[in-house]
Order: sequence, then C-alpha cells, then structure tokens
Amino acid sequence: MSENGITRRDLLKGAGATLAGAAALGPGSILPPLTEPTPAGQQPGAAEQAELAREEATRAQRMEWWRAAKFGMFIHMGLYSVLGRHEWVMEDEAIPVREYAPLNNVYDPKPGFARFWARLAKQAGQRYMVWTTKHHEGFCNFDATGLTDYCAPKHAPGRDLVREYVEAARAEGLRVGFYYSLMDWHHPDGARCATDEAARKRFVEYTHGLIHRLMSNYGKIDVLWYDVAWPLTAEQWESVEMNRMVFKLQPEIVVNNRNKLPGDFSTPEQHIQASKGGQAWETCMTMNDSWGYQRADDNWKTAKTIVRNLIACVRDGGNYLLNIGPRYDGTVPQKSVRILSEVGRWMARNGETIYESDPCQVTRSTYASFTRKGNTLFMHVHFWPGEYVAIGGLTAKVKSARFFATGQELKFEQNRFRARITGLPVGAPDHPATTIALECDSVPTQDMDFVRNNMPRDGV
Ligand code: GLC
Repeated sequence: MSENGITRRDLLKGAGATLAGAAALGPGSILPPLTEPTPAGQQPGAAEQAELAREEATRAQRMEWWRAAKFGMFIHMGLYSVLGRHEWVMEDEAIPVREYAPLNNVYDPKPGFARFWARLAKQAGQRYMVWTTKHHEGFCNFDATGLTDYCAPKHAPGRDLVREYVEAARAEGLRVGFYYSLMDWHHPDGARCATDEAARKRFVEYTHGLIHRLMSNYGKIDVLWYDVAWPLTAEQWESVEMNRMVFKLQPEIVVNNRNKLPGDFSTPEQHIQASKGGQAWETCMTMNDSWGYQRADDNWKTAKTIVRNLIACVRDGGNYLLNIGPRYDGTVPQKSVRILSEVGRWMARNGETIYESDPCQVTRSTYASFTRKGNTLFMHVHFWPGEYVAIGGLTAKVKSARFFATGQELKFEQNRFRARITGLPVGAPDHPATTIALECDSVPTQDMDFVRNNMPRDGV
C-alpha cells in the first residue's frame, strides 16, 4: 500500500481494457477512458466521468503557474557526468553495463549541490527546475530500493539525491520538476520488451513502479517530464494508465508529451517553434551542444543569444527550459554560471517584460525583438544602432516611449509607415539588450504588407 492508499495492483489493474477505450477520447486527451470497476449503486463510469471532467477542467488552472513562469532550469546529471562525454556516451561508445555501472562508485554529488543549482536558477530569473531523476542509462538518482538497487542510496552517494534536490528547489521558492526517461539501457528488458510480451509486462510494471515512487515520496511535484519512449508504443507503455496514476497521486501536476500522449504541453527541442492551436509549449535547449557534462564542449551560447531565445519563446507564448550539465560532484561549469548570472542581471532589470507578457505579433527587425503586455510593446534592442531606432509597419499609435529599466522618457515621431525613437545615446545603454517600452493606443501589431504596397515609390 502506498502513502496514498493505492496499491500497485490497483494502479495497473484494467490497463488493457483501458487502452481499448482510449481512442474514444480522441488524440487531444491525456486522460484515461472509463474502465475501472464502478462502485455499486452508481451509473457505469460515473466516478470516472467525474475524474475525467475534473482533469480537463483543471488543466487551465494546473497550467497557470507554468504559463506565468516562462523560464526554467533543466539539469542533466547522472553517471555519465563522471565520464564527461555527454549523456549518450554509454550507447554511443557501446560501453557494456559491467563496465559502465561501476561509475556509481565514483559519482558522488557533494552535500549542498542542489542548493547551489537552486540559487543559480533563482538568480537567473528561472522559476522552475527539471532534473534527470533517471536518464537513459537507467541509474536512479532517487531511492528505488525494492525495484532496483541501481540507485543513489545504494552506491557512492549513499543517500537520496532527488530528496535534496526537491528541498533545495522549494527553499528558493522554485517549482519542482522531474525528468524521467522511459528508455533504459541498463534494465535487462529495456530493449527486448519490444518483441517479448513477458519482458514488456515486467518492464512496464517496473517503469510504472518507479514513476509511482517519484510521485509518492517527495510531496507535491509540479512537472513530470517524460523522455524517449523507445521502443514501445503508447499502448504498450500503458501510457494512459501511467498518466492516470500520476494525476491520482499528483492532482495538480503538469506533464509533457513524451510518453506518446499529448500531455499538457509539447516539447520542441533545440529550436523555437510555437505549437499550433494555442497548445502550451516549451522549448528545451542546451547552453553549449551537450545536455550532460561534456568536458571539451566549448560551443557556448552567449548571454545575448540566451536572452534573445527567451524573448522569442515568450513572444510566441512559450516557455524556455535552459539546460546546465553539472560535473559528477554536482558543481556547475564556470562558463554556465557566468552566462546565467549575466542573464540574471538582465532579468533583474527587465524581467517584468518577460513574465508579464502576452503573445506578440510584432516580429520584424534585424536588431531588436519584441514582447508585449496589453497595449505596450517592448522593443528589446540587441544590436544597438545608436541615435535612433525604428519600427516599420506599426499599426497602433505610440503614446509614449521610455527606457524600461530606468523609466527615462524618450522622444519619438510616427507616420503611417514607421515609428522612430530619437535622441538616443550612441552606445547601448543596457546589455545584452536594451528594452524600450512603447505605450500604444491599442494592441500593437505590424503590417509589413501595408508598407510594401503603399510606400511611395518615386524612382525610375
Ligand atoms: C533528447 C536526448 C536526451 C535529452 C533530451 C532533452 O531526447 O536523447 O539525452 O535528455 O533530449 O530534451
């Protein structure tokens, strides 16, 4: 019996029949169909109908903090961090389990490791964290005893690292997310589950069991971030039942789409692309080219690139989940710390234009990008031209202009084709971008077709 009074058997019971009914819910639903035994005296499915309706109805509410958070910290750290050659090193170099597993004698994050991460995230303006509780390598950073001994308390760390992480995030007022890889290179059934039904049953029970553990043992968890569902289908993973268990244990959680169900949000990786139809989305991205610690990867993004990416996500209504890859002792590479600190200083001055923003239609500029709150357009100038900046095709009338960070009023002029902010200093007042707030008489949009078609042409 779990803390919540639900047994594993209860949770897995009826999963087969459940899947048969899943199609009826349509592809947009993460919710399970209605196949649990109905308590006597009720209409068939009434309790389940209510549960289903509740999940749908609460989505907007469950997602509210997440939509407002905008910026999160992703953390990849596991046994791969010992080798420092990316989290795919085990498969990419075809390292056998017997050679790889002993890394758990070396992997040993220092006490307080997660407090450093949480403080760094907070300072950077990030509002939630998502750590790899188990990556593809199969090693559990949490107490998984009873299901597997391949977990932190049983090896060098000698303690539940996930617990420390959860406590650290909460201490900084950050929301807590768990990344969990369904694919597993360590479990004996991790590949053969695709072709051997008995193996599949064992492996799915193991997987649901670990997720159950994560959802039961650490209090309220805010995000469950599934990853790589190879080699099974949603049906074979019993993903509907998996989510149902998760919501039963964590009614306020939000889940992503990588257990092959749509989930609460989609997860474009290493690129920024808004989802269609207003569905919530989150771009996850590395700061260099690797998620897990890769000692020699020096291809770092600048703070400017990161600020521009964050603006691009927020402008189109998405979130930005930015990764760090700590070393095996939990310390964060200096370069990431420096970049995040620079981003944080900018966020301290300009964060309001990020957190409290609505989707923004204005995009066209080669030296600035935009966010918006109501009728106010925020122009974030990353390549400062000096003296004046201009926006073509602005349809709304500008009422006032000011530097956002200092409140200093600025001069401007506007005709049907362009708005110009004038009398600006030659050097950029802020780094990595200077934010100018343009208060308009209506929602600012941009119409470049109007400019193209109507600008007077008077050449030959
Ligand atoms: C990919 C990689 C994985 C990483 C993830 C982050 O799925 O396989 O290593 O954790 O991206 O989104």
